[in-house]
Amino acid sequence: MASTQAEQGARVLVASNRGPVSYEVRQDGSLRAKRGGGGLVSGLSAIGPDADALWVCSALGDGDREAVRRGVGEPGVRMLDVPADVHADAYNGIANSVLWFVHHMLYQTPLEPVFDAEFRRQWASYETFNRAFAEALAEEAAEGAAVMVQDYHLTLVPGMLRELRPDLRIGHFSHTPWAPPEYFRMLPDDIARQVLNGMLGADRLGFLTRRWADAFTACCERFTGGIGKTRIGVHGLGADAEFLRGRAHEADVDERMAALREEIGTAPDGGARRTIVRVDRTELSKNIVRGLLAYRQLLKDRPEWRERVAHVAFAYPSRQDLAVYRDYTAEVRRLAEEINEEYGTDGWTPVVLHVKDDFARSLAAYRLADVALVNPIRDGMNLVAKEVPVVSDEGCALVLSREAGAHEELGEDAVTVNPYDVVDTARALHEALTMAPEERAERTKRLAAAATALPPAQWFLDQLEALNG
Ligand code: F6P
Repeated sequence: MASTQAEQGARVLVASNRGPVSYEVRQDGSLRAKRGGGGLVSGLSAIGPDADALWVCSALGDGDREAVRRGVGEPGVRMLDVPADVHADAYNGIANSVLWFVHHMLYQTPLEPVFDAEFRRQWASYETFNRAFAEALAEEAAEGAAVMVQDYHLTLVPGMLRELRPDLRIGHFSHTPWAPPEYFRMLPDDIARQVLNGMLGADRLGFLTRRWADAFTACCERFTGGIGKTRIGVHGLGADAEFLRGRAHEADVDERMAALREEIGTAPDGGARRTIVRVDRTELSKNIVRGLLAYRQLLKDRPEWRERVAHVAFAYPSRQDLAVYRDYTAEVRRLAEEINEEYGTDGWTPVVLHVKDDFARSLAAYRLADVALVNPIRDGMNLVAKEVPVVSDEGCALVLSREAGAHEELGEDAVTVNPYDVVDTARALHEALTMAPEERAERTKRLAAAATALPPAQWFLDQLEALNG
């Protein structure tokens, strides 16, 4: 690092696989930029344009790579053109098929995981991918700058960066759960230690809940002799009330509400049909299939709900490069159709399933939901559980898995379920559907207050302050 570079470099850096912008090549060859949202975007805008901030991210698709080649970019964003095959190994092979599976405890262990020579080859790409980030950050950071590394894609970066730039203050934040030692030890011993030591290269590690932070500490106590000098903090990301309430009342959301109401239809007595809403990216941890099984159980056990309720399920595509994700999406569709064939009538579609991502329609569903079903097997936080109560028009009962990070903050006013128990989930759906309107409204108010306790900008600033302190 040349000294002039360090003087001129960025003072606050964020590193994540997925960046705040992505590019698409249009038919005419021009590039279209698409900007994303989320906690980090709010956080970085909160520190203001003069803060010398830089977001280092990876080029993800052909459009992104083309943008890097043409030198097209947003101010404050540096996209790394990691070779596509290296990225595929690191992202699909290791991050999504190994680390995500370990932290969400998703393996069907009689047959998987198998840590073979192919795994070792992909792991080498994961190291290369992490090294590319560490080198870019080392090059861009001003003397003593704060670097905030995100997630399981980049667990080795803190350690690598520490070696390159001992002057930096390095933080890492996990947006997922962390596996308990008994599950984490499934990883080959050297890999387990490499992951933990990579993370421990940071000055401070952030987690969404105390449970995940404790699991990390327990892994270190078992496999690396403890966390050493690294500090641990818990920052429970909340919903962005101001943004959501404004966005949920724009004209396109009203239009989507009208269209959804039409699709849901009316009960035989002419009254509004009740709605059980779920909105997820179709990740294996979201438990959409058991949600459908629970709904089918409800229709079986409680015939009084037939024709009087609809399950509005939005299952948006995620990580479709992975066969296991594609198969899971297919199973969601198959089961929804099966339920519709079994129970549907001329005027009633029991499951209203949409798989095309549409944020305005998600907000419309949040607004009209009588019940929200959030039943993940395991989830770092789950922002849907926090967003629904904030935008709900008339109050919404929340059926919430005890394995979602959000349960630590929302459990008291939710109807809690064990996500594996579909009979109990069916019972919880009935309880939620029959909750008295006044109680539902009261609980929704308390849920919304808890859900917005730590808005995204503050969530980010707290971490920055703690890292600098
Ligand atoms: O929800 C957890 C999370 O790790 C987020 O931090 C991150 O934005 C996302 O999942 C990664 O998803 P994708 O594979 O679509 O980039």
